[in-house]
Amino acid sequence: MTAPISEQLDTDELLESGQRKMEWARQHMPILDSLRESFEQNQPFAGERIGMAMHVEAKTAILAEVLAVGGAEVAITGCNPLSTHDDVSVALDAVDGVTSYAKRGVDDEEYYEAMEAVIDHEPTVTVDDGGDLVFAIHEDYPELIDTIVGGCEETTTGVHRLRAMDDDDALEYPMFAVNDTPMKRLFDNVHGTGESSLASIAMTTNLSWAGKTVVVAGYGDCGKGVAKKASGQNADVIVTEVEPRRALEAHMEGYDVMPMADAASEGDVFITTTGNRDVIVEDHFEAMSDGVLLANAGHFDVEVDLEALEANAVDTYEARDGVQAYEMADGRRLNVLAEGRLVNLATPVSMGHPVEVMDQSFGVQAVCAREIVQNSDEYGAGVHEVPDELDREVAEIKLEAEGIETDSLSDTQEEYMDSWQHGT
Ligand code: NAI
Repeated sequence: MTAPISEQLDTDELLESGQRKMEWARQHMPILDSLRESFEQNQPFAGERIGMAMHVEAKTAILAEVLAVGGAEVAITGCNPLSTHDDVSVALDAVDGVTSYAKRGVDDEEYYEAMEAVIDHEPTVTVDDGGDLVFAIHEDYPELIDTIVGGCEETTTGVHRLRAMDDDDALEYPMFAVNDTPMKRLFDNVHGTGESSLASIAMTTNLSWAGKTVVVAGYGDCGKGVAKKASGQNADVIVTEVEPRRALEAHMEGYDVMPMADAASEGDVFITTTGNRDVIVEDHFEAMSDGVLLANAGHFDVEVDLEALEANAVDTYEARDGVQAYEMADGRRLNVLAEGRLVNLATPVSMGHPVEVMDQSFGVQAVCAREIVQNSDEYGAGVHEVPDELDREVAEIKLEAEGIETDSLSDTQEEYMDSWQHGT
C-alpha cells in the first residue's frame, strides 16, 4: 500500500519550497480565502472524509486545505502521473487534517495504488478531475457507495465519463458537474487552458509563437482559448473540428478551418483539445514538416497516437527536458511535449492554470462539496448541474474581491423580464 508522501521522500527542502508555493497561491485566491473564513466558523465538513484525485500543485493544495479547515479529513492523490509537484504534495501532507499520496512520475501501478490509499480512508465525499476516483470506487469498492453522500467532478472528460455511467444506470451516487458551470468553464477551460498551455510550450521549448502556424484540434472551450491566445501572440491559427457549428464559429472568428489531413503539412505547432482519441495519427505524421511540436491539452494522453509515432520512428531521444524527438526514416524530427499528456500541467516547468482562474474553479468545487454535505437528501444518484445560486455566490465573492460593482435589476425591470405580456 502507498505510504503518505512524507514517508516516501526526504522532506526538509521540499517542505519549505512547497509551503512557499502554497503561500503564493493563497495570497491570490480571494474566493477560497472568503470560503475559508466561513468554513472555519461553520465547520460544514465536520465528520466528513473527503477523497480527492486532482492535479496536486499549489492551487489544489489550497482547496484541500480549505476543506480541511472546514472540518473534513482529506486524503488526496494525483489524477495524472506527471502533474504532481512533489514539494507541494509534501507541504500538503503536513497540513492538519490532510494526507497526500501524490507523487510525480509514478507508473500505472503506483498511480492506482495511491488511489486505493485514498479510498482506504473510506471517503464520504469524492472530488475528482477526470473521473478515475469515482470509477475505481464503483469498480472495486462498491461497498463504500452507501456511505458516500456525493461528489464533484472538475473537467469535461470526467463529466462525459459520468454522464456515460449515468446513461447506463451505473452511477450510484450524486455527482455535481462542476466543469459545466459558467464560473468554471468560461474561465478555466478558455483562459486557463489557453494561457497555461501556451506558456508551458514556450517555456519548455524556448521557441517563439510569432510567425508560427498553430493547428488547434477541437474548437470547444479549451480550443477557443488556445486559438485566441495563439492568435494574440501573432501566430497564424488553423482549427480542425468535427462539429459543424463549432467549425463555423472558428471560421467566423477568422481562423482557417480544414481537416487534420490538410493541416498536418501546414502546421509548426499542433495542440489537441478534443477530449477524444486518435486525433493526430500515422497519416498525419507522414505529412508533417521537420521540427514540428506536438502537444496535447485534452485530459488523457490518447489524442496523439504515440504508439504509431514510435513504431514509425528510426530513433527517439530527449531533445530537451519535457521534449521527446521522434526521428523519421527521411530525417524529419517530430517533437512530442510531456509524453502527450496535458501540456499545461505535465512538462517539467508546467504550473497549470493561473492562480486566479483556479480560485474560481475551486471556489465552485468548495461550495458544491458544502451543498452535497448539507443537502444530500435533495440529490439522487446521477449527474447534477450545479445550482445557479451557488455559481453566482462564487462570482459575487470574486467581484467584491476585485472591487467591481455591477448594476442590479429594478423591480420594474424584473417584472418586465419575467412577463410574456409585454410586447410592442
Ligand atoms: P468541449 O467538448 O467544449 O470541446 C471539445 C471539442 O473537440 C468539440 O467541439 C468537439 O466537436 C471537438 N472534437 C471532438 N473530436 C474531434 C476530432 N477528432 N477532431 C477535431 N475536433 C474534435 O471540451 P473542452 O471543455 O474544450 O475540453 C476538451 C478537453 O480538455 C477535455 O478532455 C477536458 O477534460 C480537457 N480540459 C483540459 C484542461 C487543461 O488544463 N488542459 C482544462 C479543462 C479541460
